[in-house]
Amino acid sequence: MLLVMNSLNVSLDIAAQYTLAFTNLGTKDLVSLIHPAIAVILVFPIIGIVSNFAWQTRQRRLQIKDSKKSKIPPVVGREHVKLGRWLTASVVGVNLMGLAYSIVYNNFIINLKRDSLDSVQATLITLIFIATIASFIMLFRAKPKLWRGIFATLSGMGLIILGSQEGVSRFSDEWYWSHYYYGMGVSILMIFSLTIVEDIYKDRSNRWRNAHIILNCFALLLFIGQGITGVRDLLEISPIGK
Ligand code: HEM
Ligand code: HEM
Repeated sequence: MLLVMNSLNVSLDIAAQYTLAFTNLGTKDLVSLIHPAIAVILVFPIIGIVSNFAWQTRQRRLQIKDSKKSKIPPVVGREHVKLGRWLTASVVGVNLMGLAYSIVYNNFIINLKRDSLDSVQATLITLIFIATIASFIMLFRAKPKLWRGIFATLSGMGLIILGSQEGVSRFSDEWYWSHYYYGMGVSILMIFSLTIVEDIYKDRSNRWRNAHIILNCFALLLFIGQGITGVRDLLEISPIGK
């Protein structure tokens, strides 16, 4: 009898767990999961691939410098840049998604419910979103150095202006472990890498190349921090059941 009761309890527990999966989450929770899910599924695997190609590019260059030959194929440099472009696009993309979520749910919707939404300001913020995305797309297309600089500056400025809006959890007093500051840092470093691609290739003294290595090794540390602070924020600031 006891055995039957125990098995029944276990079955009920399993059934309860089954129904729990999404039942505690509301629309706001589900929307808040889109940004972390895309970061985990898309951005972090690309970081792994880009880093692997980066390592091979460096090894090949040093081997050729030392012994004039290398078993690493010459294509690794180009592959690093090709995936680097994807990395820049996906990092800035998830950044904009994180900002859009915070601004829509923690600013627009809350103020709308309180009847205090400033529609002019909301329209301006929406236009800045559109302008930031447009300049970012133009950065991928622009060839002359001047235009690349202009579109990179506009994209970076757009991100910073959007990040300064009400509703974004910046944790400025604790900037050293703030998901927002790390996210802005990596986005700007990726935009910078994309902007200087031609300079890395043209510069015979390797100054741009070395600057790129130093800055992006720092970006790798920020990416690790981004993973840690992101999962922390899922528990700390995300709403549950709303
Ligand atoms: C996690 C991010 C990244 C890291 C850690 C990284 C690191 C590196 C390293 C170590 C090299 C080899 C330097 C050498 O020859 O000694 C390199 C080369 C290069 N990187 Fe990156 N990088 C990253 C992202 C990017 C991005 C986003 C772009 C631009 C789209 C980019 C563009 C380049 C270019 C143009 C080269 C020269 C490739 C060649 O010699 O053919 N990198 N990077
Ligand atoms: C390269 C990767 C990432 C970038 C650039 C990024 C960037 C951002 C930015 C700019 C925000 C808005 C700031 C805010 O309101 O808190 C944000 C919010 C957030 N991110 Fe990320 N993030 C990344 C990866 C992740 C990951 C891996 C996770 C979790 C697994 C995550 C979880 C969150 C959470 C929970 C929020 C807060 C949303 C809220 O305000 O309720 N992020 N992210």
